[in-house]
Amino acid sequence: MDIVDLVKAVPIFSDLDDEEIKKVAEIGINQKFSKNGIVFLEDEEGAALFIIISGKVKIVRTDDDGGEVILSILGKGDFFGEMAILDGLPRSATVVSIDNSELFMIHRRDFLHLIERSPHVAVSLLRELTRRLRRSDGQIKSLSLKDAVGRVASVILQLADDTGKIKKGKVIIPDFPLQQDLANMAGTSRETISRTIHQFIREGLLEQQGNSLIIPNFDKFKNSYS
Ligand code: CMP
Repeated sequence: MDIVDLVKAVPIFSDLDDEEIKKVAEIGINQKFSKNGIVFLEDEEGAALFIIISGKVKIVRTDDDGGEVILSILGKGDFFGEMAILDGLPRSATVVSIDNSELFMIHRRDFLHLIERSPHVAVSLLRELTRRLRRSDGQIKSLSLKDAVGRVASVILQLADDTGKIKKGKVIIPDFPLQQDLANMAGTSRETISRTIHQFIREGLLEQQGNSLIIPNFDKFKNSYS
């Protein structure tokens, strides 16, 4: 796929006409990151916005003792790095490439120009930021009000929403994250993740196939745990 097609496939740019898409393709540059490569660190100065062409990244915050909380996992077509660009403050989180990934980087000034010129891009950006705020509100509820089983279920529902593929009421989550990453999303231990997922599998609420996790009856799972 050439870069113009890639830009066209990015949701925040999808309403732009061909001429504008071409301009966006010209102002950005491609960057490759290997598995576990750091894209940038929390508190660095933010000079660019990134769009994921392929692969996945995790957005993390860490504490001084090496503890890590994963705020989100983003994949193809998603963007990140907009916060420091919009408010001029340091990066709010660290971004780490989970697989080998390819990113498209647009410099701060070029992206701000683009938003000023194109209300479509500005509205799409606001829509996605609103979606992330709703999701964060859900995470606050889950972390503060639910027990460990409920928190694990919430993380599975989030992943289903972000990366799952739905087919006849069944949701398949490909490349299901590692247990340690799940623990860092749910604010619990690896052991709890393992125990809870096995409990869900025994109850028939989940199935595991290689690296994929399957929710055979998504509505039932959602109604029980959201
Ligand atoms: P920035 O602060 O520039 O750098 C870290 C980026 O992580 C941030 O911009 C957002 O793009 C992204 N980010 C921060 N918090 C969240 C979140 N809760 N969900 C998804 N992405 C986030």
